[in-house]
Amino acid sequence: MIDAENLTKKFGNLTAVDNLTLHVDEGEIFGLLGPNGAGKTTTVRMLCCLISKTEGKASIAGYDVGNEADALKIRKLIGFVPDNVGLYEALSANDNLDFYGKLYDVPDAKRKENIERVLKMLDLWEKKDVMVGTFSKGMKQKLALARALIHDPPVLFLDEPTANLDPEASKTVRDFILELKKQKRTIFLNTHNLDEARRLCDKIGILNTSLRALGSPQELENNVGGRATVIQLEQLTDAVQEALRNLRLDMTIIENRVTIRLANPEKENSAILDAVFRAGGRVQSTAIVGSTLEDAYLKLVRKEAIE
Ligand SMILES: Nc1ncnc2c1ncn2[C@@H]1O[C@H](COP(=O)(O)OP(=O)(O)O)[C@@H](O)[C@H]1O
Ligand SMILES: [Mg+2]
Repeated sequence: MIDAENLTKKFGNLTAVDNLTLHVDEGEIFGLLGPNGAGKTTTVRMLCCLISKTEGKASIAGYDVGNEADALKIRKLIGFVPDNVGLYEALSANDNLDFYGKLYDVPDAKRKENIERVLKMLDLWEKKDVMVGTFSKGMKQKLALARALIHDPPVLFLDEPTANLDPEASKTVRDFILELKKQKRTIFLNTHNLDEARRLCDKIGILNTSLRALGSPQELENNVGGRATVIQLEQLTDAVQEALRNLRLDMTIIENRVTIRLANPEKENSAILDAVFRAGGRVQSTAIVGSTLEDAYLKLVRKEAIE
């Protein structure tokens, strides 16, 4: 549904996004994760045809980003919630949505119907005639989501939709994103909230100007974060050491504790423990350590060695 190939954006001498290649399937929630200044907003603005790309290719549902004729088609297919929501503060919730609905040429009856549907979905229906200037941050964020949905687009781009929201408002927004997924919409989510990404996303890209990793949260945790099994023995005998060495493991030994770095501990642990037992080892405890998305993220963003 969303494709980018070697997508690059330069602002003068500064490369904001470098050679980004990614693919988002229909109905998927894709999370673009990265620190401030990583190029997340720039990426989304290019994909939404709001700024030009410097190099590379991108398409939404097969329509080319950067092609004038396709840009109109793309705009009808996508909804965008920018990081700075930019609503008309002097207008009511209803009038904000009505205005955008007209911009998108949504016919009168349909517009009315959509406004009611999205406002009810977001618990804002009661506030439809209230001036947006009086809304809390959470309510404004929800209204921005409603606005992005006014023309019922199959694809949504959300730029840090829960930044600066209190936990309760964040949860409402997250639940709503999951609701949108149930409706089979494709969602491209910028965030620097790791927990949010792990909970919501089918696939995550870690960006720091260039893409550092791409995969499901589980894949990133397993492949990038680096996991290890720690075996605490009563006594690390020569026989046990030799048995472990024969398995050619990447391990460190401190006193009677062996730490073994493994790609897939759940799968490899039983063979390792078998070897330990056969060599007469007595195990006090075993544990799998590492492996959070945070480990993976920090490792990649800090540009530490990637194998
Ligand atoms: N219009 C612009 N002109 C010049 N530099 C920009 C512009 N927009 C963004 N940048 C720069 O591009 C880089 C990426 O910014 P941005 O995409 O906003 O990152 P993020 O959304 O991940 O925080 C930053 O170094 C930022 O200062
Ligand atoms: Mg941003």
